[in-house]
Amino acid sequence: MKLAICGMGYVGSVTAACLAKAGHHVIGVDVSPEKVCMIQDGVSPVIEEGLPSLYEEGARTGRLTATLDLEAAVERSDATMVAVGTPSQPNGSLDTTALERVCEQLGRALRGRTRPHTLIVRSTVLPGTTRSLLIPILEEAAGKPCGEEMGVCYNPEFMREGTSVKDFYTPPFTVIGSTDDRHAAVARALYEGIDAPLECTSIEIAEMLKYSCNAFHALKIAFANEIGDFAAEHGVDGREVMRLLCLDRKLNISPAYLRPGFAFGGSCLPKDLRAMLYRARQQDLELPLLSSILPSNNAQLQRGLNMIMEDGRSRIALLGLTFKSGTDDLRESPYVELAETLLGKGYDVRIHDENVATARLVGANAAYINRRIPHLTRLLTSVEEAVEHAEIVVVCTGQPEYVDAISRCRPDQKVIDLLGLPKRETEPVCPVKGIAW
Ligand SMILES: NC(=O)c1ccc[n+]([C@@H]2O[C@H](COP(=O)([O-])OP(=O)(O)OC[C@H]3O[C@@H](n4cnc5c(N)ncnc54)[C@H](O)[C@@H]3O)[C@@H](O)[C@H]2O)c1
Repeated sequence: MKLAICGMGYVGSVTAACLAKAGHHVIGVDVSPEKVCMIQDGVSPVIEEGLPSLYEEGARTGRLTATLDLEAAVERSDATMVAVGTPSQPNGSLDTTALERVCEQLGRALRGRTRPHTLIVRSTVLPGTTRSLLIPILEEAAGKPCGEEMGVCYNPEFMREGTSVKDFYTPPFTVIGSTDDRHAAVARALYEGIDAPLECTSIEIAEMLKYSCNAFHALKIAFANEIGDFAAEHGVDGREVMRLLCLDRKLNISPAYLRPGFAFGGSCLPKDLRAMLYRARQQDLELPLLSSILPSNNAQLQRGLNMIMEDGRSRIALLGLTFKSGTDDLRESPYVELAETLLGKGYDVRIHDENVATARLVGANAAYINRRIPHLTRLLTSVEEAVEHAEIVVVCTGQPEYVDAISRCRPDQKVIDLLGLPKRETEPVCPVKGIAW
């Protein structure tokens, strides 16, 4: 493929060299004359292991050249990849000025052109930026809408400085967000030789994914540091703690607990966090990340409550009361708190929870249930009655019968899904709103 890469910084220069090595014809574009000269001379514009020989080879084979002139590069290309910087402004907001300028220049270069051209955005941008900011600039400057001739993809970058050439060839995955298959195929073709899963998705998901990955990496580092600090205050080697923690691929280093949904609860997580934080306070040890978890959990509970209260109607069915499905344990269940708050505000609540109904009559939890939440157990009823009664049906835990129950909802009802219900064969006739989807 003939490709222009605009922005020959860390991302652009590694991508350009690796794609040229793979056989594509790459024209690097930058506003820095020094960088352009270096590339023309076969010298890498950034320091990265493996790049010097790739730049030398690129110049020798003629597959990697550079220019200051974007329009000339676009003229000779089937696609333009944009990897210009998107730095922080002093207030933390994202500076997209360079990206905007490039899209305008690209649009002008594509004005009147009938040969198809694909813009592949690689710079990190917040979700919605490509569709609501960059595409309109491109279309305005090109004097035509995106479609067959001109299209846009978002293709985030997952390499790490220092090992980025290696990371380019062995990425965790290749992700292409696009609005149409024709232009997604152009971006896909660039990575044909790369042995990694290829995921095609929407532009917004691809944009959001990059931020989620970086936030997750930052979170993991801060978590390991705070665990290390807490351990050290107890004469424990935090490195060994974290080594063992990482051996658990079932719950720790795994997709477990990584689905958006409602607040956590139960007899362990809140209690154990509180115990750690109390001990840290006694030791004058600051754990800002761990200290933020319970407030974050409360905010999620409040978000669920707001979704119910914003509707304005008062007859509510809660499907599930225990902190998760498959247990009768109600200790610190966020759904108990949800129910109690709604009752306190005068809502007319019905609850279904088979495990609580059974445990209330028999079993070790009977005394706890009858003593601690008699006001809630009086509201327990069948799924059918709870749903029949409700204007808003709130799905809390994952009982299979809840999927059936909501499929029978009336058009005047509303389902609030706090759980992430599985995909349904037939969608309910009433609106279904997820807590974060
Ligand atoms: N550095 C990383 O490891 C990394 C990883 C993934 C994603 N990203 C993202 O990729 C983007 C680029 O990051 P970077 O670290 O390579 O940036 P960088 O600052 O190293 O490079 C940006 C390049 O763009 C050039 N440029 C600026 N305006 C231009 C214009 N109008 N026309 C042509 N060139 C122009 C600059 O001269 C510079 O060479 C950012 O959005 C960043 O967040 C970076």
